[in-house]
Amino acid sequence: MNKKTVKDIDLKEKKVLVRCDFNVPMDENRNITDNRRIVAALPTIKYLLEQNCKIVLCSHLGRPKGEFKPEFSLAPVAKELSKQLNMDVVMAKDVIGEDATKKAKKLKNGEILLLENLRFHREETDNDPEFAKKLASYGEIFVNDAFGTAHRAHASTEGVTKYLPAVSGFLIEKELEFLGNALENPKRPYVAILGGAKVSDKIGVIDSLLEKVDTLMIGGAMAYTFFKAQGYSVGDSLCEEDKCDLALELMAKAKEKGVKMVLPIDTKIGKEYKPDTESKTVAWTDIPDGWQGFDIGEKTIEMFRKELNGAKTIVWNGPLGLFEFDQFAVGTDAIAHKLANLNDAITIVGGGDSAAAVEKAGLADKISHVSTGGGASLEFLEGKKLPGIEALLDK
Ligand code: 3PG
Repeated sequence: MNKKTVKDIDLKEKKVLVRCDFNVPMDENRNITDNRRIVAALPTIKYLLEQNCKIVLCSHLGRPKGEFKPEFSLAPVAKELSKQLNMDVVMAKDVIGEDATKKAKKLKNGEILLLENLRFHREETDNDPEFAKKLASYGEIFVNDAFGTAHRAHASTEGVTKYLPAVSGFLIEKELEFLGNALENPKRPYVAILGGAKVSDKIGVIDSLLEKVDTLMIGGAMAYTFFKAQGYSVGDSLCEEDKCDLALELMAKAKEKGVKMVLPIDTKIGKEYKPDTESKTVAWTDIPDGWQGFDIGEKTIEMFRKELNGAKTIVWNGPLGLFEFDQFAVGTDAIAHKLANLNDAITIVGGGDSAAAVEKAGLADKISHVSTGGGASLEFLEGKKLPGIEALLDK
């Protein structure tokens, strides 16, 4: 990486403002249901503790749209951080208000303060310079470790770097190492697996991966647009009719570039959108009216498995079926297991849902890198510049 990291700057006993991505899922009782983003932030925080810094952490949570809403408070994150670090983490009641300012002033070396949700202020997403300046006043140095938010040019990711020397934390460094290598210097054969609901969400990434990969496998609801584009009925499956031409163009581009595009050959379909709905598996060309495709079928799983044998770099983004319902999680689960068993390949999983599926299956440790970025990892793989990273000091 050509950007400075916490290791390239003297941080000893400094006041440091750290942007993390603590945008974690919570249940209705505000219990954190997946703490991966918090755990991923720990190496940088621990390093700053070792440097005896005064640490002011900030993050967004959800999209409260500039209003204080208690259900979007970061208080549960402060609690989880305390637990993970085995120390007190002081929680501020606001972001740039009296409480946060007072608590930041009182902060001693080796102590941690977490500001409230940055998005309680519209100025955060507006990248308002005054707001960024106020945030910057909490530190002498800014550390960005929020990879998941690096694709947003917000006050706490980009604006603040105008007022403070800005370096990356270990998480951003690690993300860029894996994703960057997959982009620039992949070991071949290089295979990408893309799932998820919409072709429109993935056009950019498909287009750019077609320049790089040897094989592109497509699953998830997105596949039905490709079926329809080839003239087959998809019943009531999710399908973007207006993207059929585009699907054909992408297929043609794959051919032209010599990329093997692998589409499902069978699909598990259900009557209704509910966990215990009646289901069956049919060929991709035989989806009856009144049925919806919810997963890849067994033959497709087998075909995908075979395609993955011998691959040296694999990037996977997006679930291959409706994995929230157990009976339609089979394809996603099978591919997660396959990746976990490929000892000889660099395996990279990005995107909130596929990463959650790997985690749910208890396989995260067997994947080379599970990205904490959804949109950010996609934009990075598309070859776009991420403003939160661009703004950091060059080496
Ligand atoms: C994410 O979950 O992808 C990041 O935290 C960014 O959130 P956003 O899409 O609301 O900006």
